[in-house]
Amino acid sequence: MASINKIGVFTSGGDAPGMNACIRAVVRTGIYLGKQVVGIHQGYQGMIDKKFTDMDARSVRNIIQLGGTVLKTARCVDFRTYEGREKAYQNLVDAGIDALVPIGGDGTFSGAEELSREFNIPVICVPGTIDNDLYGSDFTLGYDTATNTVIEAIDKIRDTAASHDRLFFVEVMGRDSGCIALHAGVAGGAEAILLPEKETAIDDLIHKLEEGALSKKSSCIVIIAEGDKNGGAYNVAKRVKEKFNFYDIKVTILGHLQRGGTPSSFDRVLGSRMGYAAVKSLIAGETRKMVGLRGNEIQLTDLVDAIHNHSFKLEEDLLDMATILAI
Ligand code: F6P
Repeated sequence: MASINKIGVFTSGGDAPGMNACIRAVVRTGIYLGKQVVGIHQGYQGMIDKKFTDMDARSVRNIIQLGGTVLKTARCVDFRTYEGREKAYQNLVDAGIDALVPIGGDGTFSGAEELSREFNIPVICVPGTIDNDLYGSDFTLGYDTATNTVIEAIDKIRDTAASHDRLFFVEVMGRDSGCIALHAGVAGGAEAILLPEKETAIDDLIHKLEEGALSKKSSCIVIIAEGDKNGGAYNVAKRVKEKFNFYDIKVTILGHLQRGGTPSSFDRVLGSRMGYAAVKSLIAGETRKMVGLRGNEIQLTDLVDAIHNHSFKLEEDLLDMATILAI
């Protein structure tokens, strides 16, 4: 493989807290190792539209503590076509960019995999998504912060729910992954947790809520991942209301507030480690891999494996435990 001179870094798909720490690490590691680094704005869209900025060590000052992504992000339809990727690649060549660090989720990885295969450009991807659903890393960037944000919200909802003897259905993000719902549900002491990975019959849920009410629970919180097969918090609340009248029922959709906010120390350290490792791996001649955290070690996973094994593996034991601890 030809030696690398100029590394392009970009964020793509949904933003996640910790992405800025990662961008900072990529820029500074690259510069420290004698490479040029270019920031590509708005992900693949920016690659097609030539939104390139030369980065130096000072261009990433004071960003480690910021949520969102200073490089901005986008979901790009044009990049799904060969013509779009060809145009993007030609722009990279014109700008002298000869290697890439894409930061994002499985959609970002699929784009990077195609680009590197079709045009032979080295890529090392970083898993950045609040969903924590990528194979090859115990944690993705942003998951820890997002889950803590959810718990803070659940705690507040619990205060008002207990004061009014109410039942709340709280919907959290996770179109395909119940990881946030499960962990926030356990940490927030939820009475029930509904996930995309496991169907919950509404009658069973009602039965569980009735048991709680009869055993003098003053409030109940049900966490629902947005991808749950019952169709989201409003639908579940409507169906429960038809048969259950122990409590007043309310719905809260947490939505995009889960994606923002100051990254936790965990996500800052993770972003720094992953960005640093991505650049060092590229320079060592690695390509078509994802950096990930396994145990407490940074390891590389084949990009194709990371894409094909995508999904959060439901920890059934946690779900069982949550049920017992909520009696
Ligand atoms: O993939 C991260 C995520 O936050 C999902 O949990 C959620 O379903 C989705 O992004 C929302 O995407 P958008 O911001 O494009 O609506």
